[in-house]
Amino acid sequence: MKFELPVLPYAKDALQPAISEQTLEFHHGKHLLAYINKLNELVEGTRFKGETLEAMIRSADGAIFNNASQTWNHIFYFETFSPKGGGEPKGVLAEAISKKWGSFEKFRQEFSDAAVSLFGSGWVWLVESRDRSLSIINESNAGNPLREGHIPLLTFDVWEHAYYLDVQNRRADHIKGLWNIIDWNIVAGRVIKD
Ligand SMILES: [Fe+2]
Repeated sequence: MKFELPVLPYAKDALQPAISEQTLEFHHGKHLLAYINKLNELVEGTRFKGETLEAMIRSADGAIFNNASQTWNHIFYFETFSPKGGGEPKGVLAEAISKKWGSFEKFRQEFSDAAVSLFGSGWVWLVESRDRSLSIINESNAGNPLREGHIPLLTFDVWEHAYYLDVQNRRADHIKGLWNIIDWNIVAGRVIKD
C-alpha cells in the first residue's frame, strides 16, 4: 500500500495569521507531498516496503529514514493545530509541565528559545519518557525522538519552508504565533496512558 497525503483537519485559511493559506498550500500540498512521493519510490524493492513509518524511523537510515521521518513529523505537526487552539493545557499534562518547569509560561519560553536557536533546519519537540518525565529536545533535519524511545507530544517545524513566505527570516515571530493554534486536547491525548 502506498502512503498518501492526508487531508488537513481544517481549511487552508483557518490558521491565519499564525500560518497563512499560502504557506499551508506549499508546506502541506507540496513539501509534505514530495516527501510522501519520494518515500513511496524509495521503498520499492526494499525490506521496508509495506512497513509502517514508525518502523522505518526506528531502523532505516539515509534517504528512507529522512523521507519516512519527514512524512511522520509533518503529519504529526499539522494534526496538532486548530483554529480554536491556544491557551494552556489542563489536567495531567498541565501538572507534568508545572512539575518540570515550574509554570506553563516558563515551559513556553524554554520551548520557544529552543525553536528560535536551533541552528539550520530541524524540529523542536516536547517529549515524554517511559518514566513519565517531560523534556524539550532539538532534532536536526528529519530527526525524530521515536528513534531514542521517547513519546512525542508536540513539535514545531523550524525548517525555513515552514515560515519564510509569511515572515521571511523572522523565525521568532512565527514561533510566537504557533502558540495561538495549538490544540492542547490533541497534545494531551498523546500522553502515555496507564
Ligand atoms: Fe516542514
